[in-house]
Amino acid sequence: MMSSSKRVGKRLSERLKNLRKFHQKQQHIWDIGCDHGLLGMSFYGEAGIESINLVDPSAPVIKELKINYKDSYITEGYLNIIHSEGQKLTIQKPSNTIFIAGMGGKEIGEIISHLLPQLDNSSQIIISPHRKILELRAQLKSMPLSLVTEEVIFEDEQFYQILVLKPGKGSAVSSFGQEMWRSEVGEQYRLQQLKTYEIHKDKASISYLEYLKTMVE
Ligand SMILES: C[S@@+](CC[C@H](N)C(=O)[O-])C[C@H]1O[C@@H](n2cnc3c(N)ncnc32)[C@H](O)[C@@H]1O
Repeated sequence: MMSSSKRVGKRLSERLKNLRKFHQKQQHIWDIGCDHGLLGMSFYGEAGIESINLVDPSAPVIKELKINYKDSYITEGYLNIIHSEGQKLTIQKPSNTIFIAGMGGKEIGEIISHLLPQLDNSSQIIISPHRKILELRAQLKSMPLSLVTEEVIFEDEQFYQILVLKPGKGSAVSSFGQEMWRSEVGEQYRLQQLKTYEIHKDKASISYLEYLKTMVE
């Protein structure tokens, strides 16, 4: 019989699969802004996982999660469904993978600055912001965080940046991204961003455009 993590895993979008692949060996999974909870639940039953924490501030989302998962799966302490904003969350565990996907850069920045002091050095944060990415990068750059890797993916006619971060000083997050532009999808994204930002006249957008143009060899 197929395990529950494999069953849920089969329904993951390519975007969520791409986020999931960056999990290393952290024991505690946090899916913040989880909505359907598919990303967090894809770890259910996986060896080495000690808890899955599905977090969302929306009451209807929490109600639906409890209907879908709580009765059939729940072992309190192993699968936790938490009604909270990420900005108010208490972690109190070592070795965490924190996923924050599908939210704006402002919320993601706030959540990371709230959680960072609670995280040990074996934890990691995997994010995929949907808006305000330049502003978020500027904020992340000034935090005690290091960039493990970054990539851009394309799904359903949309590009998504993914950043993998660790607490502590190391290779800093850059203002506009570096490694992610080097792939084939990265080049398509660059061309799309050149068009998108053409009409923006603020200082950060102008610098971003100049940066994108310098990448043409
Ligand atoms: C577009 S869904 C993304 C779902 C999933 N993470 C994904 O990427 O497919 C955004 C979710 O974030 C939740 N959300 C909005 N603000 C939040 C916050 N401050 N903290 C945690 N979750 C939040 C919403 O309730 C919603 O369920």
